[in-house]
Amino acid sequence: MERSMRVVLLLIRFLAAIATITFSFGLCNGNPDWPPLCKDSERQALLMFKQDLKDPANRPSSWVAEEDSDCCSWTGVVCDHITGHIHELHLNSSNSDWYINSFFGGKINPSLLSLKHLNYLDLSNNDFSTTQIPSFFGYMTSLTHLNLGTSEFDGIIPHNLGNLSSLRYLNLSSLYGPSLKVENLQWISGLSLLKHLDLSYVNLSKASDWLQVTNMLPSLVELIMLDCQLDQVAPLPTPNFTSLVVLDLSRTSFYSLMPRWVFSLKNLVSLHISDCGFQGPIPSISQNITSLREIDLSFNYISLDPIPKWLFNQKFLKLSLEQNQLIGQLPSSIQNMTGLTTLNLGGNKFNSTIPEWLYNLNNLESLILSSNAFRGEISSSIGNMTSLVNLHLDNNLLEGKIPNSLEHLCKLKVLDLSENHFTVRRPSEMFESLSRCGPHGIKSLSLRYTNISGPIPMSLGNLSSIEKLDISVNQFDGTFIEVIGQLKMLTDLDISYNSLEGAVSEAFFSNLTKLKHFIANGNSFTWKTSRDWLPPFQLESLQLDSWHLGPEWPMWLQTQTQLTYLSLSGTGISSTIPTWFWNLTSQVKYLNLSYNQLYGEIQNIFVAQYSLVDLSSNRFTGALPIVPTSLWWLDLSNSSFFGSVFHFFCDRTDELKPPYVLDLGNNLLSGKIPDCWMNWQELEVLNLDKVLKIARR
Ligand SMILES: *[C@@H]1O[C@H](CO)[C@@H](O)[C@H](O)[C@H]1NC(C)=O
Ligand SMILES: *[C@@H]1O[C@H](CO)[C@@H](O)[C@H](O)[C@H]1NC(C)=O
Ligand SMILES: *[C@@H]1O[C@H](CO)[C@@H](O)[C@H](O)[C@H]1NC(C)=O
Ligand SMILES: *[C@@H]1O[C@H](CO)[C@@H](O)[C@H](O)[C@H]1NC(C)=O
Ligand SMILES: *[C@@H]1O[C@H](CO)[C@@H](O)[C@H](O)[C@H]1NC(C)=O
Ligand SMILES: *[C@@H]1O[C@H](CO)[C@@H](O)[C@H](O)[C@H]1NC(C)=O
Ligand SMILES: *[C@@H]1O[C@H](CO)[C@@H](O)[C@H](O)[C@H]1NC(C)=O
Ligand SMILES: *[C@@H]1O[C@H](CO)[C@@H](O)[C@H](O)[C@H]1NC(C)=O
Ligand SMILES: *[C@@H]1O[C@H](CO)[C@@H](O)[C@H](O)[C@H]1NC(C)=O
Ligand SMILES: *[C@@H]1O[C@H](CO)[C@@H](O)[C@H](O)[C@H]1NC(C)=O
Ligand SMILES: *[C@@H]1O[C@H](CO)[C@@H](O)[C@H](O)[C@H]1NC(C)=O
Ligand SMILES: *[C@@H]1O[C@H](CO)[C@@H](O)[C@H](O)[C@H]1NC(C)=O
Repeated sequence: MERSMRVVLLLIRFLAAIATITFSFGLCNGNPDWPPLCKDSERQALLMFKQDLKDPANRPSSWVAEEDSDCCSWTGVVCDHITGHIHELHLNSSNSDWYINSFFGGKINPSLLSLKHLNYLDLSNNDFSTTQIPSFFGYMTSLTHLNLGTSEFDGIIPHNLGNLSSLRYLNLSSLYGPSLKVENLQWISGLSLLKHLDLSYVNLSKASDWLQVTNMLPSLVELIMLDCQLDQVAPLPTPNFTSLVVLDLSRTSFYSLMPRWVFSLKNLVSLHISDCGFQGPIPSISQNITSLREIDLSFNYISLDPIPKWLFNQKFLKLSLEQNQLIGQLPSSIQNMTGLTTLNLGGNKFNSTIPEWLYNLNNLESLILSSNAFRGEISSSIGNMTSLVNLHLDNNLLEGKIPNSLEHLCKLKVLDLSENHFTVRRPSEMFESLSRCGPHGIKSLSLRYTNISGPIPMSLGNLSSIEKLDISVNQFDGTFIEVIGQLKMLTDLDISYNSLEGAVSEAFFSNLTKLKHFIANGNSFTWKTSRDWLPPFQLESLQLDSWHLGPEWPMWLQTQTQLTYLSLSGTGISSTIPTWFWNLTSQVKYLNLSYNQLYGEIQNIFVAQYSLVDLSSNRFTGALPIVPTSLWWLDLSNSSFFGSVFHFFCDRTDELKPPYVLDLGNNLLSGKIPDCWMNWQELEVLNLDKVLKIARR
């Protein structure tokens, strides 16, 4: 039986093989497309490599030692079609793997050296922390592409990587600050074919030669060196790396005038020099800028005096001058930049009106004028800017009406008008115009602190695509908020600091299944849900300060396991804290239960590290709780904690830092304050006011 089965199977395989051969011959004109098997020596090399690899998720599970396992079909392995030699290894993880901790780590076995034809090695987004980049990489001379970006290697980059003279792509960037460093960068000059170089967050402070050596790479197209601990950018009379297309030197503390040479790179398309401490005027340059399309000068100290003519180039697509020292009127030359898709002038000191010509830049997709002192009204010509996707006019001195012509902006997704002085007599009109574009309309609307009053209009319910709504710090009043309950896509809702009141019931929340952030403090709502209510959402932040929530503890909180921010101050809760509550708080960063009538003992406070915890002004009794983790702020004042403070101050076994601010004032504590200050070295503010019974030493 078994025997005959095998015969049948063999026969089927044989026929299939013939069919494949015939098929390929037929199609490929006599060139058999037989997938070659991988070389045995290369398979062995991969298996040895795998043995040393830490691989918590067992990801290359297809990498097995079985005789007939073709390593060319293993995950991440690419072989040459004809020779069967391994050409590429794709062993990168993705950032999202962080959650399931499935990064590769461990040791890199030198067996990789047997892959004599390997030209592509991608180990990016892994976690090889505490290991150095193996110096045998310097012998893998067939490599053209080496990506170790965000793989968290430590120590000195082996200079013999400079022997990899075929490299086109080298990525040694990291993400969490400098763990890699170099003694110099001289070795880079061996990489004469290099096109893409990313050294972001590598500590290059000893490589004062960085510019000289990179300038000698004739093929360089992309140079990314964010935050490399450099402090000097030298003048370059004749830049040699004229093939550069992308240059990013952001977050480097140069604190100097802007170098001129960057503007003479004839092929440069994208220039990012934000947050570099550049000061003074933007250099005026004589030659014509022809290739540049994207320029990011944000977060520097530059001024537009004198106005550099070249900067307002017709061909530019993106210009960011965010957070500089720009004052007065918008330079009228901007009107010549008719191709612009992104203009970011936020965080400066412009104090004119928004000039009418700005509304003619109708290719703009993002216009950011936030945090200036723009005054006057928004012109109804804004309705002509039909490409707009993001419009940020927040934190200015704008006044008058919000124009109804916003209804023409059907691509608009984000509108931030917050912190201005508008006169909105009929907010219903504004919501109507914003809802004209239907279900694919606006996603994020902020009207925070815009001086709007009156009841929440019905028309708000028409903003059916809205995900983030902020109408906080206005004078909305009345009891009607049901209309917000219709906004099914809402993830973030902020209605704090208005004059809203009335009951909020289960029905209100029934469609808000995506809600993550609910900020509603500073109103006088009454929470009306039944004891066994199961909310349809999982909240990450909840702020209900000054609501009428009590006197019972809100039992539905038991279902909310993702909370990081919880504030229920002054909500009239008069109960003990249920023990299950501390099972939910391990990721909480901010916890405020002050000004309630909470009573009973608290044994432990379980929250995330570096959190703020305010349990003050309650009626807690018993000994001070144990605080197992380190906090920024702990306020237990104005309660009835009693007894000795010895354990609280002295029983700290964790090696983490204690709170920066500690308030135990106005309790019934007693005994000597023990000398355990070595456990509390980070303490900056300590209040023991009215802790009357503590004996003075
Ligand atoms: C590895 O990187 C490539 C692009 O370089 C990407 O397409 C792929 O999704 C990445 N693999 C993982 C597991 O993230
Ligand atoms: C280098 O790798 C990092 C991490 O994978 C990536 O974010 C970055 O874009 C890469 N740089 C280049 C120039 O490809
Ligand atoms: C590789 O680089 C090292 C250090 O930069 C150098 O001493 C060595 O001679 C190089 N080896 C080859 C084969 O080029
Ligand atoms: C960078 O390296 C220099 C010299 O080795 C060192 O003094 C400095 O502290 C390092 N910077 C950082 C942020 O690690
Ligand atoms: C630029 O390249 C030329 C020839 O390729 C070379 O002679 C010159 O020294 C280089 N200049 C700099 C500043 O590296
Ligand atoms: C710059 O462009 C203008 C007009 O397009 C031209 O007349 C001038 O000669 C150019 N200057 C240089 C230095 O190329
Ligand atoms: C705008 O700012 C400039 C420079 O600070 C000042 O001279 C001018 O009076 C201001 N204009 C207005 C309208 O406030
Ligand atoms: C706009 O460009 C034209 C032609 O290039 C030029 O004559 C004019 O001066 C520019 N306008 C401004 C305000 O810079
Ligand atoms: C919009 O553009 C047209 C022509 O492009 C112009 O006539 C009109 O004044 C602009 N403003 C408004 C509000 O339509
Ligand atoms: C608020 O709006 C009212 C009209 O509704 C107006 O009289 C008042 O000046 C505005 N207040 C501010 C600070 O803009
Ligand atoms: C929830 O959605 C349903 C179906 O669209 C609707 O009938 C109901 O009125 C909505 N509830 C609230 C509170 O808006
Ligand atoms: C809370 O956690 C403890 C152990 O950490 C567990 O024994 C207890 O059952 C949990 N309580 C609830 C209500 O989840």
